[in-house]
Amino acid sequence: MDSAIVIRHLAKEYGAVVAVEDLSLTVPKGAMFGFLGPNGSGKSTTIGCLTGLLDPSGGEMEILGERFTAESVGLKRRMGVMPESLGLFEPLYAHEFLAFVGRMFGLDETTTRARVTELLAALELTDSSKTLAEYSTGMRKRVAFAAAVIHAPEVLFLDEPFESIDPAGVALMKQWLRRFTEQGRTVFITSHVLETVERLCGAVAIITSPGKLVWQGDITVLAADGAIEYDGQQFRALEPLFLRLTGEHYADLKWL
Ligand SMILES: Nc1ncnc2c1ncn2[C@@H]1O[C@H](COP(=O)(O)OP(=O)(O)OP(=O)(O)O)[C@@H](O)[C@H]1O
Ligand SMILES: [Mg+2]
Repeated sequence: MDSAIVIRHLAKEYGAVVAVEDLSLTVPKGAMFGFLGPNGSGKSTTIGCLTGLLDPSGGEMEILGERFTAESVGLKRRMGVMPESLGLFEPLYAHEFLAFVGRMFGLDETTTRARVTELLAALELTDSSKTLAEYSTGMRKRVAFAAAVIHAPEVLFLDEPFESIDPAGVALMKQWLRRFTEQGRTVFITSHVLETVERLCGAVAIITSPGKLVWQGDITVLAADGAIEYDGQQFRALEPLFLRLTGEHYADLKWL
């Protein structure tokens, strides 16, 4: 099977902080791949390295069969990213920002204009009286999602795309993402909403700090009412497996 993403011994340090120590992972083409882990485990750092937003301290990455570095301009045009920070240019209106992104990805003016109009209508972002700085959290997220898909990339990186989006928005995004992978394109997605991951993703990787892979596998059995076996135990949902792998935390606040 062809690989869309290959990570070999990825490391990333921020000064003295080791965010990712030694991560190796392969994602097949056409996968809807969930990349899960507790807060601070290194998910956004990994996505940053995979999309050229961050410079890794060590290791190698391959995307669509080509070696990827922050300078891989041709490859970056085939990729889309919705970073954790969203990466919006706040003073702009949504249509201005999306037009800028479309042109940056090499779309011609007519195609850009048509796609911007279509995306804004579908995502119900037609209120053009507000700049991105004046948008609500969910509206800003919708714009960031639109910016990630406007050039119909072959590999899409989404860092917590569903958090703060309303149920209708999530349903629409899931519908688009399913079509996207049916066409052989690849989605690499982080989320803490495990029920959504369970219904959407075919495979997941679970990491703990600092970017340590603790489990990787097919989760389609869960949607078919089956179970995942791990360490002699049967897990019928992602949440108990996630907690088993990453540690459960009990703390009783006497005053609460
Ligand atoms: N700019 C930065 N400077 C210093 N340390 C950082 C920076 N960004 C992240 N870190 C550290 O790197 C580690 C991994 O952070 P990262 O943001 O990748 O985690 P995450 O898995 O995306 O977490 P979350 O689920 O909260 O989004 C954490 O210890 C974090 O404190
Ligand atoms: Mg993060």
